[in-house]
This record gives sequence, C-alpha cells and structure tokens, in this order.
Amino acid sequence: MYRTHTNGELNLSHQNQKVTLSGWVQTIRDKGFVMWIDLRDRYGITQLVLDEKRSSTELFEIARNLGREFVIQVKGEVKERESKNPNISTGDIEILAEEIIILNTAQTPPFTIENETDGGEELRMQYRYLDIRRNPVKEKLIFRHQVAQKVRKYLSEEGFIEVETPVLIKSTPEGARDFVVPSRMNPGQFYALPQSPQTFKQLLMVGGLDKYFQIVKCFRDEDLRADRQPEFTQIDCEMAFVEQEDILNVFEGLTKSLLKDIKGIEIDKFPRMTYEEAMKTYGNDKPDIRFGMKFCELTPFVKGKNFNVFDSEELIVGIAAPNCANYTRKEIDAIIDWVKRPQIGAKGLVWVKYNTDKTLKSSVDKFYSEEDLKVWAEKMQANPGDLLLIMAGDEKNTRKQLSELRMEMAKRLNLRNPEEFAPLWVVDFPLLEWDDETQRWHAMHHPFTAPKPEDLEKLQSAPGEIRANAYDLVLNGNEIGGGSIRIFNKELQSNMFQLLGFSPEEAQAQFGFLMNAFEYGAPPHGGIAFGFDRLVSILKGSETIRDFIAFPKNNAGRDVMINTPAPLTDEQLDEIHILVKNQEKQRNN
Ligand code: AMO
Repeated sequence: MYRTHTNGELNLSHQNQKVTLSGWVQTIRDKGFVMWIDLRDRYGITQLVLDEKRSSTELFEIARNLGREFVIQVKGEVKERESKNPNISTGDIEILAEEIIILNTAQTPPFTIENETDGGEELRMQYRYLDIRRNPVKEKLIFRHQVAQKVRKYLSEEGFIEVETPVLIKSTPEGARDFVVPSRMNPGQFYALPQSPQTFKQLLMVGGLDKYFQIVKCFRDEDLRADRQPEFTQIDCEMAFVEQEDILNVFEGLTKSLLKDIKGIEIDKFPRMTYEEAMKTYGNDKPDIRFGMKFCELTPFVKGKNFNVFDSEELIVGIAAPNCANYTRKEIDAIIDWVKRPQIGAKGLVWVKYNTDKTLKSSVDKFYSEEDLKVWAEKMQANPGDLLLIMAGDEKNTRKQLSELRMEMAKRLNLRNPEEFAPLWVVDFPLLEWDDETQRWHAMHHPFTAPKPEDLEKLQSAPGEIRANAYDLVLNGNEIGGGSIRIFNKELQSNMFQLLGFSPEEAQAQFGFLMNAFEYGAPPHGGIAFGFDRLVSILKGSETIRDFIAFPKNNAGRDVMINTPAPLTDEQLDEIHILVKNQEKQRNN
C-alpha cells in the first residue's frame, strides 16, 4: 500500500498513529541535527521531521540524498508540532519519519513548483505537467471539473440527454475556418473537425430526442486571443417544441444556479437588451454593464461652430469618465495616444473637463463656449468631476473605437470588478451581415437560424433589416453563449442558402442531409451553446481561458510541450494521398 492517508488529511486527532504517506518533495530544510521535508500531493502538504535523538543516521543519509520533486513514500508516526502553521490543514502536526523509500528521482525542475513561480509562460507550457503540480493551476482544473459536474447535474435533472456526436464530420459553416483531416481510404477527400455539433444536434431533434446536451470539444482555425483557443469546449444544447423564451428560461436557470452555488450570488432576472440598443449604448454586442459610461450621441448639438472635424463627420459620440476631470495634460495625452494606436485606429479625441466647481474646460475651447460645453455635459448626464471623452467619425468604426476606450477607461478606473457578476441577454440580432470583401450576405449567427416571422417579408427587399430569433448570453463583457431558434422547413432553409450565395446544387451537396431530414417531420426547435472555458474562467474572475485548459495551445496555435503541429514523413503523406513538393517533382520528371 503506497499510502494510508493523503498529505492534506492528518491533524491532531491522528496523533501517535502510524501512517504511510506518498508524494513529491517540495522543500528540504537541513539544520544538521534536525531535518524537515515538506511532502506534497494533490491534497496538500505534510511536514516530515527527522531528528538526531529519534532518527537513525541511515535515515538522515537517505533524506540528505533527496532532491526537489523526488517521489517518495514515508512511514512514520503523527506528532504534534512545536511551531504550528495555521495556513495549512495539516499545520498542527508533523510525521516523525521512520522509513523513507525513494519511489522515483527527479531532475531539478526548470522553475519552482510554488504558488508564485519564477517560470515564464512559455517554459511552464513546455513543462505543463510540472505547472499542473502548482496549486493555482491544479485548483483551476479542479474548479473546471466541479462546474462541469454541476452543469451535467442541472441539465440532466431538467430532462436533457447527453449524446456524443462525431468528430470526423463535414465542414459546418460557423464563420471560422475548419481544421481538416485527410482520409486514407478515400483518396483526395477530407473530413473536417466540427466547429460545433450544430447540424447533428438539429438532427437529434428530428430524431425525437427532444432535449440534448453535450460538453463537447469544438475546433476552429481562427486567430487566437485570450478568450479563444483553436480547440475549446462548449456546453452544447438543443430543444424541440420550444420558442426563444423557453430556451432563455432554461439557460438563465442554469447560469443562475451556477452563480448561486459557486459564487453565492443570487440574481433575480437577467436583464435583456436588443442588439440595436447594445450597439447604440455601448458600441458593442457584448457590453459590460457592471459600470456606466454609456454612449451619448452629440451629433445634433455640435455642428455649425466652425470645428471642421465635428462639422464633417457622420457621428459625434462621447462618454463621461467618472471623476477624471482632474487628469493632468500628460494623463489625457496618454489616453489620446492610446486611441490613436493602430489597434484602435481613432484619428483623435476631444476632451471636456467638467470640473467639480462646475466650470468647463476643453480641447476645443476655440470653437465652443462654456455654454455649449454645458449643453454637452447635460446631454451626457455627466456629474461635476467627470471627464468627457468624445470621438467623431463614421458610425461603425467610431462606435467600435469608443467602445474600446470605454473598456480601457473601466480598466484604468478599476471598474471591472471580477467578483461582481452582471449577466445580460442580448436579443434580436440581425439575421445577416453584409461582407464588403466578398460582396455577399453572411449569416450573423449561422445559416440555420430562423428569421423573425414578422420580418420574413423583407427576405428579398431588405435582407439587412431582418432580425433573427438569435440571442447571446453576455457575462461581464464576455460572450459566454449564443444560440437561436432554427429554421425547420426545407423551403425556407433553401431560400436562406440561396440568399447566402449557395447555388441549389451547392446547398444540396453540402447540406442535403439536413434539408432531407426536414422532409421527414422536423419539429420546431432551437438551442444554445455556452463557451465552457469562458464560463469557467469568468466565474473564477479571469478572462484568460488558457489557464483553465489542462494542455492549451499558445497564441501561434502550437502545443509547445508535444511540439505540434509537426511535419509528417513522406511515407505518411503518401499514405493519405498528399503530395509533398519533392514527390511532386519526382513524379513530374
Ligand atoms: P457560437 O459560435 O456563438 O455558437 O459559439 C458558442 C460559444 O462558444 C464560445 N466560443 C469559443 N470559446 C473559446 N474559443 C473559441 N475559439 C470560441 N469560439 C466560440 C463562445 C460562444 O458564445 N452552434 C452555435 C450554437 C447554437 O446556435 O446553438 C455556436 O457554436 O463563448
């Protein structure tokens, strides 16, 4: 038996018991006549002690040959400690070692296995198995497991059935690129890894399963960010015989129960906002509503004063940054430089200080009187002490830029409190969005999303104005879920493909299986998918999902531990019918 107890378990109630423990050597302190060894496992740390009076010289010799991260087994007796450590569960006791068995030696780890480590990100990723030994990483993985358990329990109790869908499938158009897998048995043909199980879960509804869920890996070949990984996990769901309201209710219930169980936070009803309102008020379809700084459009109030920028631009819009009127010139210049960075791309920023004594001072005093500025401050519902930050430009870009500035100011002002939770449903998304590059309509959510019945008449005349029965769940400014009511009628689905630029033949070739299924009694249905990595990280107050994934990829999409993606041998490539350049050359000769 390797152990009778774990390293987080023993306390004074076990005094004088003979125990066997196993684990990793965390630290060794050698005072000559006495030695302490901290032994670590998943459950905690237990202190081992050897002393001259009670321990043999042979035992001291073995202990002195130990190194950090050696795997050992120890037999000994539980004793009360002289100097207790109230910070750990085993802090009242120590084990007087009687026998130490080295189960495995270890090289000195490339970084310290401590809560605060000296290892950089890349190094820790390369030795992720060592990183996982550290508490902060281990705890995140345990937390992820706990959330998954709660989700499974909640949905199962609501009558959902977990069904696995295939991973080797055909491309599903969800807006990103597919990862593809060549088929050895079908030369020149490829599987695609699912961007989501979208079409399969719809087929499960046609199959009559009624309520489906799956905690499932999805794959998207897209540019990576803190909240995006090429393979990530969804809590994917679908329900039959439902309307939007039914779906929002179930998943609001799930989110509420997670917030209550995990955070002890009770939220009565999640607010809702239309996409249009979100864009107008926050310049963003996933607004962080933990703080104000709502957009105020000043366009009608600023024209005709010879300030060329405001006179010529389509939209003049601002936010009032609370208690920032005392910013120095230098601080304001830093904000202006920030918005002018290429990532944001604003041309400039007009500022107005609404001082606590109610005087007003601005960067455009040459053109506007204090009375004019007062009107702006009133329109913006600013308080004395606020700094008004105003941008001008075309509608789309300016809103986006101001939204970035709003988030940046919130960061600088510490308004994004990770312990506060502000969920929000954003509803009534447009069905389609125009893509200038391809000169085509694109499905804003995906091509299976149903238009609002009352907007259907615009299908030919004004496609851009059609709203969809599509919704997102936003938590603290992050999109954690999205879904829609689906089309379940073959004719409407094929009209949709046509609108999206598919010829009838292309639509049939790619999605014939779904449209055929719609001819065999498809029920009305809809669903949603939560980004599980995002949900878990936000619940823990972080926006970096990488930390909550056991073996994540880096920003270049690489796993630096196993060093992949990696080349294949010519033989392997040949087997899957992929020509490599030199083979190609040979064949041509
Ligand atoms: P959608 O594409 O909105 O919807 O994805 C659902 C949720 O998945 C998360 N997510 C990601 N998380 C980490 N890394 C990524 N690369 C990534 N991409 C998306 C987001 C997002 O809200 N089939 C539809 C759902 C439906 O209609 O039912 C779908 O996949 O949190």
